[in-house]
Amino acid sequence: MSQHKGFTLWFTGLSGSGKSTLTERLEKEFRGRGYRVEVLDGDVVRTNLSKGLSFSKEDRDINVRRIGFVCDLLSRNGVIAMSAAISPYEKVRQQCRKLVESHGAAFVEVYTKCSLDELVRRDVKGLYAKALSGEIQNFTGVSDPYDEPKNPDIIVESDREPVDESVAKILRYLEEKELIG
Ligand code: ADX
Repeated sequence: MSQHKGFTLWFTGLSGSGKSTLTERLEKEFRGRGYRVEVLDGDVVRTNLSKGLSFSKEDRDINVRRIGFVCDLLSRNGVIAMSAAISPYEKVRQQCRKLVESHGAAFVEVYTKCSLDELVRRDVKGLYAKALSGEIQNFTGVSDPYDEPKNPDIIVESDREPVDESVAKILRYLEEKELIG
């Protein structure tokens, strides 16, 4: 059976910045090209693998490490693993990178950058309004920290570029690195 190389495509960014939209689009794209792919979406992971975890720093770190663990298992076995969790802390993101790379797979960090003003304006889930009023506490970007990636492999800006452009940018990068054909 032919097997392509797996890798991890790790999205990081604030809630509503486009992580899930991009992984949905890319999942279809990769499947269309015959690749095996799995998505670990923060919202989904928190209903099963990380059920019961809070949004404290400790629990976020546990959540993100679990996602990194699964991405490692998948990507070292020929699957494209995509993570779509806020993953707010640089240190843990770096640990996930090290883990994946230690088993010979590439780790590509994509920063979904978007201004807070725009996220508050969109507020698709209605959470920013609640965070701003104090109804929800420790909300990333409003009342909880977000470490901007120090050295992301790709930056996409959902408040400045259409989704198609971001998708194309990511695919181009992966093609250039010969991670996809
Ligand atoms: S992470 O920090 O642990 O990486 P994760 O991506 O799993 O976060 O979950 C983020 C999602 O949880 C958000 O998109 C949002 O829908 C929801 N959420 C609920 N409470 C919070 C909060 N306090 N901070 C951030 N997101 C929250």
